[in-house]
Amino acid sequence: MPLVTVPTTAGTGSEVDYWSVITDEEREFKMALGQPPLTPGGPYLGASVSLVDPALTESLPPRQTAATGFDALSHALENYVSAVSPPLVEPLALHVMELVAEHLPTAYHEGTTESREHMMFAAHLAGMGENLAGFGAIHSLAEVTGGMYPEIPHGEAIAIYTPAVMEYNREVVPGKFAAVAEALGRDVEGRSEEAAAKEAVRAVEELMDELDLPTSLEAVGVAESDLPEIAEKSMETSEIGDNPREATAEDLLEIARASY
Ligand SMILES: [Fe+2]
Repeated sequence: MPLVTVPTTAGTGSEVDYWSVITDEEREFKMALGQPPLTPGGPYLGASVSLVDPALTESLPPRQTAATGFDALSHALENYVSAVSPPLVEPLALHVMELVAEHLPTAYHEGTTESREHMMFAAHLAGMGENLAGFGAIHSLAEVTGGMYPEIPHGEAIAIYTPAVMEYNREVVPGKFAAVAEALGRDVEGRSEEAAAKEAVRAVEELMDELDLPTSLEAVGVAESDLPEIAEKSMETSEIGDNPREATAEDLLEIARASY
């Protein structure tokens, strides 16, 4: 049967990617399900037709606009810095980050048609990138947290972990994080790579602030005693192997503590 997809958020890019997320409620574990583009006979979860119409996001409330839009940004960010992404994805990912930084605040505060159009395009483009690229610790930690706490929206879990994971990753690929800072609208002319890379983290924190996204696990009701389990389970996710800096369970626990 042909698969026809119709996105109603500007977020996951699921309408165009070859992946799905399935939750094992017994193990409280979310898993990525799907296959790479060149799977023989596949991609089974690839749509034959995507009907991408930003008008369908016009009634999306601000909170969901912010969380899903931030998710699109995180896809581009993780795809861009991932250890296994081909160079082809890089300009695509940088453009997504530019679009989100420029238009998500307006989509959140005013919900204008124009900002919704740009966000829908950004999310769709990020979804295309996902098919070719890897993810990383942000999605590992956020998916595990979402499996254990299904009431936390994916985009909010993503936002909470993003600054600490960027802080952790930026020293292995400072040049890439400097480019992220620029894509997010920072003037990093004349700055060292390291200083520019730090600016990327500040830019994301400011964007989260502007979007009123939660900034701590505590604020969304995660128990501090669950952090070791979150770190352990994150090591079992498919995304963690793509992180640009090889992470141990101890590293992930540190990141989770910093995000608490
Ligand atoms: Fe996501």
